[in-house]
Amino acid sequence: MEGEFINGFSKLPKEEKLRFISDVMNDPDFPSEAASYWHPEKQEIFDAFSENTISNFYLPFGIAPNFLINNKVYHVPMVVEESSVVAAASAAAKFWSVRGGFQAKVISTIKKGHVHFVWLDDFNILKEAFGAIKIKLMDETSSLTANMRERGGGIIHIELEDFSQKLNNYYRIAVDFQTADSMGANFINSVLEAMAGAFRNFILGTFPEKADRLEIIMSILSNHVPDCRVDSYLSCPIEQLDTIDENFTGKEFANKFKTAVDIACIDPYRAATHNKGIMNGIDPVVIVTGNDFRAVEAGVHAWAASSGTYKSISQVNLDGNNFKFSLSMPLAIGTVGGLTSLHPMAKRAMQILGNPSASELMTIIASVGLASNFSAIRALITKGIQQGHMKMHLSNILLSFNLEPFQKAEIEAYFHEKKISHKAVQNYINEHFLNNAL
Ligand code: MEV
Repeated sequence: MEGEFINGFSKLPKEEKLRFISDVMNDPDFPSEAASYWHPEKQEIFDAFSENTISNFYLPFGIAPNFLINNKVYHVPMVVEESSVVAAASAAAKFWSVRGGFQAKVISTIKKGHVHFVWLDDFNILKEAFGAIKIKLMDETSSLTANMRERGGGIIHIELEDFSQKLNNYYRIAVDFQTADSMGANFINSVLEAMAGAFRNFILGTFPEKADRLEIIMSILSNHVPDCRVDSYLSCPIEQLDTIDENFTGKEFANKFKTAVDIACIDPYRAATHNKGIMNGIDPVVIVTGNDFRAVEAGVHAWAASSGTYKSISQVNLDGNNFKFSLSMPLAIGTVGGLTSLHPMAKRAMQILGNPSASELMTIIASVGLASNFSAIRALITKGIQQGHMKMHLSNILLSFNLEPFQKAEIEAYFHEKKISHKAVQNYINEHFLNNAL
């Protein structure tokens, strides 16, 4: 075995954790470098978000300005490391700001959770008792749901589901929730766990001789949220696309764009990349508003695969003279509670957006996803994406050299139409500036 285990890492003071890790790295400079990223006043807040914190990991906080969504202008904060993402979203926002902008609508906001269990007896017993079981589940969770009910949320529906055809003796209690402006994961999981206990107690009390026929497997929300869904679309007369690229008429562009999106509707290889281009816009806004991007990703990909074949979650309709590009996606996010209320910059991001409700934030996030998708497809079917990517790549490469501004400008001009790589830039510097700048 290579490497060494450590016991009680979580109990070590931060300095000792750092010392241990720097020994692992065999790099005595690491503790001071990691400490240089501690926040001088607010480090305690960041430390509290996670276990075993040793430092902070910086990512850029940018703005994609000029999103016109449902006739309201937003300047959208985004946290992302991929260099062209904010530029791509901004370009699409600007292009569509004079073509009617984004029309977005929340379709529904229901989230689901399940008590998964094994029942080794006659299912009809449970079916017949389920009316009484439901009352018990509602009663025994009413103190947990009181607050949420006051905010307009709570339990919407409870159902008993039979999956024993797919997995021997497997059944579940499916519960629908509304969680108002919170994402609601903790609320849903607490209610489900309480329901599991109430269900077990019901069986113990009503059919004590069958108590050992029930095994609760787990109680957990589902990140597949097809009923917590938002739609956003862009639409304009096709001739308004005439100016989009010098090599295409609006009609040619619209047709090629549609074919590109149609490919992602039939081919999972393309669909995964296509949807990744949508998530380029979604994740950065989900992150900057303190929401759970893993939950959102899981929900989107479950939705994309829900027909049995993984597909694009956006589509194009060409109806007569009209171009319509639309996205329909699940999105379980919140604007109160969780990291949104704790992270100082998440609070600021919410403020930049005008402190939207969860539903309004859903419309914003979906629209930024559609914008990213639009810019990606636009680039792919015209100039290709590498031109834009490589420009940003070049500025990242230039950062790694200690250059004067005039030298950077010279290199940028030189590489304008040339293939960019770290080695090519290094060679250029060696040839032109070595002994002068480095
Ligand atoms: C790169 O981050 C995203 C794209 O690959 C998306 C796409 O291919 O549609 C450009």
